[in-house]
Amino acid sequence: MFEQYVLPYSYDALEPYIDALTVETHYSKHHATYTKTFNELAEKAGFSEKSAEYILANLEEVQDEGLRQALKNNGGGYYNHNLYFEEIAPEKGGEPKGVLGEKINETFGSFQDFKENISALAIGRFGSGWAWLNTDKEGNLSLSSSSNQDNPISMGTGLTPIFTIDVWEHAYYLKYKNLRASYVKEFFNIVDWDKVEEKYKNALA
Ligand SMILES: [Fe+2]
Repeated sequence: MFEQYVLPYSYDALEPYIDALTVETHYSKHHATYTKTFNELAEKAGFSEKSAEYILANLEEVQDEGLRQALKNNGGGYYNHNLYFEEIAPEKGGEPKGVLGEKINETFGSFQDFKENISALAIGRFGSGWAWLNTDKEGNLSLSSSSNQDNPISMGTGLTPIFTIDVWEHAYYLKYKNLRASYVKEFFNIVDWDKVEEKYKNALA
């Protein structure tokens, strides 16, 4: 049974950066539906005992093309939103510290450069999708973006995503309308970098 990440903050806690109605709709409608559908599909495919990561990395085991695509979409919708809601929290922002902060500086030059690069990927992603900060098993960081609910796991990169920006319109349209760049800029005010560092360390363990 795949569990939707339980929000430790209220729907209005991310104001003014993300409005309460957006968080409520995003979490209790979009994410909840992906979770429910993913559970049904995983059972149908005989994947109930597997992890979401395993399923997304091994979609080729599913013979039925329709079921395979639906698992990719809904499994991605489940997994991606768990990461998204977990990495944000009220009164966060700032810059990553510790080993993650050091690795970001080493890889991208500075936190500012990292932010500009991933923001450009998020803003430039045509249509619905995601921007990603990924690590390999050795701790090397890289950036990418994906469309729909695809992610670095279902795309077969072998990388582990540790931070993401949701750029589907449902993530920002009520407040920011067509101004995706403004949403991406403000999003950094609620990123919990300690949580992202925890994801980084777990991916290397
Ligand atoms: Fe979303």
